[in-house]
Amino acid sequence: MAREQWGICSEANLHGLHLFFNAHDGYEPVIREALTQLPKIFEELNEQFSEAMFSGVIAIGATFWDELYPDKKPEGLKPFTAINHDDRYMPAESIDLFVQLRSDRQDVNYIACQRLVSLFGEMIELIEQVPCFRYLDGRDLTGFVDGTENPKGRSRREVALVKEGAFAAGSYLHVQRYRHNLARWDQVPTEDQELIIGRTKIDDIEMSKEEMPETAHVKRANVKDEDGNGLELMRQSMPYGNASIQGLLFISYCAQPTYFERILNSMVFGTDEGNYDHMLDYTTAETGSAFFAPSIDFLKNQGN
Ligand code: HEM
Repeated sequence: MAREQWGICSEANLHGLHLFFNAHDGYEPVIREALTQLPKIFEELNEQFSEAMFSGVIAIGATFWDELYPDKKPEGLKPFTAINHDDRYMPAESIDLFVQLRSDRQDVNYIACQRLVSLFGEMIELIEQVPCFRYLDGRDLTGFVDGTENPKGRSRREVALVKEGAFAAGSYLHVQRYRHNLARWDQVPTEDQELIIGRTKIDDIEMSKEEMPETAHVKRANVKDEDGNGLELMRQSMPYGNASIQGLLFISYCAQPTYFERILNSMVFGTDEGNYDHMLDYTTAETGSAFFAPSIDFLKNQGN
């Protein structure tokens, strides 16, 4: 049975380091070869610093996949689609490789980053790095707990991992870097913030059906399929921030390639009456890209 990359379903950590790379032309065969080595490097770090709960994920961008592995492609892997509706804009960019390094020690993430950079050397170019941290008891910087309704236990794997076929244990991944307008958000009274999110702030309790506005984030993100089953994502988002900018690096993994986009559309377009997700009045997506994180076995078997 194929094994998934550990960071897809792992529990939250204290520190995250997220790296976005593009590949230099013509290096595909050496990148493929380097990718066969990477799972072992991640495994060794996990063993060496076992108390840090280190995990790493590498994922391949929707466009780059065709160049890297031209023979076979996960069926649902498509580039991120930009959305522009009223004043809500979700940009898209094409990134070749995404790396998620997470652990409870910032130094361990740093060591992992250095190993990765020396493995790939001049084959790839760093486009962006987003260091993230756990904020208080797992809250977004808006002050609301993020991740409560994530799948738990065994269902994490069911939600996140492709079940069968050549890409079993792989996962469709979407990443968006959101920048918050906290100066604006902090002026909103707590009761109104709770109506915008759809949960209470301190205790993190979901509002009743009667109380929940159509425009609440939780309401808009709760999308059902034709049979009434909720479309679930395995979210691994983390806050980032410094003295000048603050926000959330939204990361979701899913066995189903279309769920993310269907939920995002529900947030941006809202209902027929135009009830969009009012959280989007306080945060802006600045990037957006789509990837596939293949199983460890797939990565190891694709050498030259
Ligand atoms: C739920 C924050 C973007 C999908 C939540 C919750 C918070 C939150 C506080 C409630 C607690 C929980 O269950 O986790 C944010 C912030 C975002 C963001 C701050 C961006 C700045 C997104 C995006 C998607 C998404 C882009 C997917 C396209 C979901 C889902 C839930 C959720 C599926 C669970 C809804 C349910 O209760 O069934 N989010 N979110 N979120 N969010 Fe987001």
